Amino acid sequence: MPASGGPSPALAALLARGALLAPLSGVTDLHMRRIARRLGATATVSEMVAAEDFARGTEEARLRAEGEGVLPHVVQLAGCDPHWMAQGARLAEANGADVIDVNMGCPAKAVTGGQAGSALMRDLDHAERLLAAVRAAVAVPVTVKMRLGWDDATRNAPDLARRAERLGYAAVTVHGRTRQQFYTGRADWAAIRAVARAVTIPVVANGDVASLEDARACLRESGADAVMIGRAAVGRPWLVGAVAAGLAGETPAAPDSGARAELAAEHYDGLLALYGTRMGVRHARKHLAAYADHAGGLSAPERARLVTTTDPDEASRLLRRAFEGSPARSAKQAARPEHRAA
Ligand SMILES: Cc1cc2nc3c(=O)[nH]c(=O)nc-3n(C[C@H](O)[C@H](O)[C@H](O)COP(=O)(O)O)c2cc1C
Repeated sequence: MPASGGPSPALAALLARGALLAPLSGVTDLHMRRIARRLGATATVSEMVAAEDFARGTEEARLRAEGEGVLPHVVQLAGCDPHWMAQGARLAEANGADVIDVNMGCPAKAVTGGQAGSALMRDLDHAERLLAAVRAAVAVPVTVKMRLGWDDATRNAPDLARRAERLGYAAVTVHGRTRQQFYTGRADWAAIRAVARAVTIPVVANGDVASLEDARACLRESGADAVMIGRAAVGRPWLVGAVAAGLAGETPAAPDSGARAELAAEHYDGLLALYGTRMGVRHARKHLAAYADHAGGLSAPERARLVTTTDPDEASRLLRRAFEGSPARSAKQAARPEHRAA
């Protein structure tokens, strides 16, 4: 990877027809990324890390940027101040980040209210200053994740991507919705094509990809180099690797029900170790719910207990049971890993 900036051939090769795990705040913690990567995801991206908090050394930001055992380690930074974004990028690089990704897509009011995330797409000159500051701060490749634009009247992703390319950014990711859409409607994969046409660096298409068929259609419609999968991978982090294998023309080797149960248990135990039992139990609940829902083996009262108990042993027992309860469905899923779950 070039030390002086500019597009990275290594990154381009990595991304070609790849499938990446998307950054999901509060979800794509260290252990989810480790599991997804081990099971074949082309790459994973950290939860967004508030650059100023990270540079000032807060514990939450440190945990979000943790990447031990994840290679390549991509840290996503969010913020609106070029100074703090550069500081955060320097620290992430010093701590071992292989790639810095800049968040210009988050629609949450708490983020856009501070003029970060997708609010940066309302002022591309400011966005460009911020991108330049991050680029200048580090030697590792830098990438940016954006939406199609702020709203339908200002679909300026191609312009932003061109600016990023001129600054030496190595790749861009585009979620096929505007900020004003939040998560409504369907992602517009064809609209991402305008970005793919505007730049020569790799483009990663994102939004509503939940299966190998979706990934193929998304690449066909968008002209992008790779896909990024977010919500569909919650509760089944093996999905991203199965899609990556399918895109590469290999037979997706998704784990069977027993192996899935072990991976879910590994994820849960990892979170308890990473965050401590009290915080870990709470943080893990969305994962437990998603694992249980995909596995399908719990009754409604058991599921409710799984996501409310503060006893980690009870949660572990229920989690195991979720995978034991529906052998027929699990076997079907194992045989057809690339298909959308019901
Ligand atoms: C709970 C949640 C958290 C998210 N957090 C981030 C984030 O930290 N950084 C980011 O760039 N996008 C974030 N996103 C957006 C996703 O990365 C992705 O662009 C979006 O979910 C569309 O992809 P999907 O349909 O595959 O989920 C988040 C989305 C959700 C639902």
